[in-house]
Amino acid sequence: MHVLVTGGAGFIGSHVVDALLRCGYSVTVLDSLESRVHPDRSWPECLAAVRRVRGDVTQRDDWLVALDDADAVVHLAAYQDYQADFSRFALVNDAGTALLYELLVERKQPVQRVVVASSQAVYGEAAYQCSEHGRQYPPPRSPQQLSRGNWDLVCPVCRVPLEPVASTEEHPSPTNAYGISKLATESYALTLGARHDIPSAALRFSIIQGPRQSPANAYSGVLRAFVGHIRQGRRPVVYEDGRQRRDYTHIRDAVSAVELVLEHPDAVGQAFNVGSGAVTTVLEYANAVLAAMGVDLQPDVSGRYRLGDTRHVWSDTARISALGWRPTGTLHEIIRDYLAWIADAPAGEDWTARALSRMESAGVVRQVAQNP
Ligand SMILES: NC(=O)c1ccc[n+]([C@@H]2O[C@H](COP(=O)([O-])OP(=O)(O)OC[C@H]3O[C@@H](n4cnc5c(N)ncnc54)[C@H](O)[C@@H]3O)[C@@H](O)[C@H]2O)c1
Repeated sequence: MHVLVTGGAGFIGSHVVDALLRCGYSVTVLDSLESRVHPDRSWPECLAAVRRVRGDVTQRDDWLVALDDADAVVHLAAYQDYQADFSRFALVNDAGTALLYELLVERKQPVQRVVVASSQAVYGEAAYQCSEHGRQYPPPRSPQQLSRGNWDLVCPVCRVPLEPVASTEEHPSPTNAYGISKLATESYALTLGARHDIPSAALRFSIIQGPRQSPANAYSGVLRAFVGHIRQGRRPVVYEDGRQRRDYTHIRDAVSAVELVLEHPDAVGQAFNVGSGAVTTVLEYANAVLAAMGVDLQPDVSGRYRLGDTRHVWSDTARISALGWRPTGTLHEIIRDYLAWIADAPAGEDWTARALSRMESAGVVRQVAQNP
């Protein structure tokens, strides 16, 4: 089977390509080598053995070249950022996916499977339980609430503090442009896929971590940011009070989820959460990274916060587990594997400081009026 992997030069994509080649698939990669991810605009060495198409998923002609001979598509290319350029999310993520389906229908191309990357971001402020009023899906915390350093959510009915719970697939409710565009990506795939007999599945990744996360990519996750600060001799910056809960997930588990839904007949027509199942606070993560790097510093918890961040979110993975998927990566392995990889990367520019200052000047990262 010949698989087209869009975004195959990126973090998840390059690992997916490795795995597909190991399984005996042949692969084409379509990637625009975005400078925000690939500052030198060159192909990663690990893709030397595959057919590479440098092109953009918003461009019809680039898709046409890349789709040639494809029996399946893993669509990972996406625009990701914290900035307020809302239309760009729609252009790349929504319209790029729509264009894929438009061309598959137009060409009557008989693909065996399309897998699209979605995100935990579709859950917005995520799921909570009120002891009195049951399951709640609260609206996002307001800028005013955040500016007071008042981080936690209360029941919209009785104002009692809410207890966070795992998010299941039934209640997507995105609250930012990225999440909205990822839900649109899924909708195109699952709805148009069903209508036009294009077997499709979507994966809602939690925060995926591991080697090859571009140090230049400001959206590539907290481990990159922690390590970036520490390598420059700074304390790792932790937003809010660091008690936010997340399910950091090893890249190996994201790849095994892609492999599973690419083949499994029961995956068709569904969106699946892909998370580690292990809930960790941001502060615990920062301390684990400091310990692994043998650095005697404390995390910098100084009242910064990021507008639009979710307080707590982690995913229930029962749906994909029913198909036989199990996550195996631990936080220890994530940190160990990333540090082993980054040790060989040149220190280069101080991307982390640059990203932080860009977010601060755009008003995305803010400081509480008075440190609580
Ligand atoms: N890494 C995570 O934690 C995570 C979590 C949830 C969802 N996702 C989703 O998984 C997918 C892969 O994420 P990643 O972490 O590997 O990102 P990444 O930035 O490392 O890789 C994305 C790749 O897509 C390419 N690309 C971007 N825009 C493009 C365009 N218009 N046309 C062609 N190529 C383009 C980039 O050059 C890059 O190589 C994305 O769809 C992302 O939204 C990732």
